[in-house]
Amino acid sequence: MSYSESLAGQRIVVTGGAGFVGSNVVRRLLAENAVVVVLDDFYTGDDHNLPAGEPNLEVVRGSVTDFDLVRDVIKSSSLVFHLAARNIIVSTRNPREDYEVNIGGTLNVLLAARELGIPRVVYSSSTSVYGNPRYLPINEDDATNMLSPYAVSKFAGENYCHAFYESYGLSSAVVRYSNVYGTAQRPDNPYCGVVSKFFESAMKGESLRIHGDGEQTRDFTYIDDVVEATLLAGVSPKADGQVYNVGTGREVTVNQLARIIIDITGAKVEPVYIDRRDIDNIRRRVVNIEKIRRELRWIPTFTIEQGLRRTYEWLVSTM
Ligand SMILES: NC(=O)c1ccc[n+]([C@@H]2O[C@H](COP(=O)([O-])OP(=O)(O)OC[C@H]3O[C@@H](n4cnc5c(N)ncnc54)[C@H](O)[C@@H]3O)[C@@H](O)[C@H]2O)c1
Repeated sequence: MSYSESLAGQRIVVTGGAGFVGSNVVRRLLAENAVVVVLDDFYTGDDHNLPAGEPNLEVVRGSVTDFDLVRDVIKSSSLVFHLAARNIIVSTRNPREDYEVNIGGTLNVLLAARELGIPRVVYSSSTSVYGNPRYLPINEDDATNMLSPYAVSKFAGENYCHAFYESYGLSSAVVRYSNVYGTAQRPDNPYCGVVSKFFESAMKGESLRIHGDGEQTRDFTYIDDVVEATLLAGVSPKADGQVYNVGTGREVTVNQLARIIIDITGAKVEPVYIDRRDIDNIRRRVVNIEKIRRELRWIPTFTIEQGLRRTYEWLVSTM
């Protein structure tokens, strides 16, 4: 069965579907003719991220911390994409809230999915679970090293997926995203807000503010590639019980990122260097994507230059 056939007409739930990544997953599912239900408390999500007047889209306002609601929403769905989460900034400020939403909410999704016999849950995790890695590029089975409460909660969610898979046979797949950027990302999005912040500054003719020396590296991943990897994790039989890195395998410094954005926008500005933030404790990160390439036949299709150019075109179109 083709990829599209396995999604068309299916009732699919996206928690956190009004957020940056979630709303892109939703749009893609709608394009594949799925019937989509979003569960979101709109903490960082936004109505404007979702298409208006779409007959195949239902939006439920509520929290994944409410078990009865979660059970109600995911009832009779064939797939749940679980993206709802408090982000790293909220989590650093308030670890208890992070614990309740990211761990408690994930447990609710898994408990309800198990009770209702949902065929698969895809859990969106983060490469922050690796901390400062000893070796690059990072493989899925390399050592984890949680340096923030957010990393702890995202990893706890992964472990619950694994435990429910082993203990109860609940099918799940984990995708570990690496610094996603692109359409629908707001400048206050903490994961890759750097991209939208740099664009915002460059387009206003203001200096790009770099935390630290700018030599910290990340594996910046374009949203369309992330959506594709996430959907494949939802439909591929091979993804059952697996964990996948989702990145590009290319290590880019923040200084390089700033330079590309200055070139794309043609801005007559230069970066300025300011203090590093408490959440910037990862020096280098780039992931090995061989496993997802081999098992799910996924490869990133956007270079950083192409992805940033697309992002710029989208930003210009929204002005
Ligand atoms: N963007 C990235 O670079 C990145 C990297 C690694 C992992 N992730 C993971 O991907 C997922 C989506 O991230 P994003 O960048 O789209 O962030 P986002 O903040 O834009 O999206 C999260 C969504 O979850 C919703 N939400 C938060 N708490 C909720 C609750 N209690 N109940 C229901 N909904 C709730 C928010 O309102 C928002 O719509 C998260 O799980 C995040 O941990 C993202």
